Amino acid sequence: MMQHANLPAHVGIIMDGNGRWAKKRGLPRKLGHKAGAATFKDIARYANKIGLKYLTTYVFSTENWKRPKDEVDSIIELLRSYLNEMDGYAKENIRVRFIGDRSAFDDDIRAKMQRAEEKSRDATGLTLILAINYGGRAEIARAAQLLAQDVQAGKVSPEQVDEACFSSYLYTDGIPDIDLIIRTSGEFRLSNFLIWQCAYAEYVLTDVLWPDFKPATLDAALEEYGSRSRRFGGLTGGQG
Ligand code: FPP
Repeated sequence: MMQHANLPAHVGIIMDGNGRWAKKRGLPRKLGHKAGAATFKDIARYANKIGLKYLTTYVFSTENWKRPKDEVDSIIELLRSYLNEMDGYAKENIRVRFIGDRSAFDDDIRAKMQRAEEKSRDATGLTLILAINYGGRAEIARAAQLLAQDVQAGKVSPEQVDEACFSSYLYTDGIPDIDLIIRTSGEFRLSNFLIWQCAYAEYVLTDVLWPDFKPATLDAALEEYGSRSRRFGGLTGGQG
């Protein structure tokens, strides 16, 4: 286990390449997602062990429904069985949160999400955030709608609307912005992932396919992050 100076508060991971990983082995895509889910669990545990405070992962986007039904079903089944394992997180001091539109999922899945959040509510280690049926633009439009309702109800005046006020209507209310975003499998896109919260994020891109991602791959990304000079639009270096 590596000791990290300048650990980012919040890391986002776009877990890409499950399909290619499976294809390389002549396996069906769903076995790529299965391997990806196993990697995800390992990395979440490792992130907690090294003292990371927030980790957000892109599990299922609003666009992923366009995939063949068989593949969508297999990802949802993986989610269902993973939700059944989540009771252990409270003991490991991991807090779980889900962001995205849950209304698309079956009642049992929604109930399990709520249960996992409630059971782990008091954990003080890693907050593990799963973006599921999530899209950044949809999140912003939803925030605008909730804010407009509050303005109409006289709870907020238009003059009060600033960045902090707007942020409080996002799913990530109370969670710091993303400092480091990691995308696997050699892709260079943000793909509608936390577009508001990534405004000043550093990017680390790797060719590693998500199922092959190891704790050492995360260590390397954190090292790279630690060596960057963040300026937030100013001239002098920030935290190093
Ligand atoms: C991207 O690989 C991955 C996804 C769209 C789904 C992410 C899902 C998992 C990591 C597994 C499920 C996890 C949990 C926690 C239930 P891709 O299929 O786009 O890969 P490709 O670009 O090589 O086709």
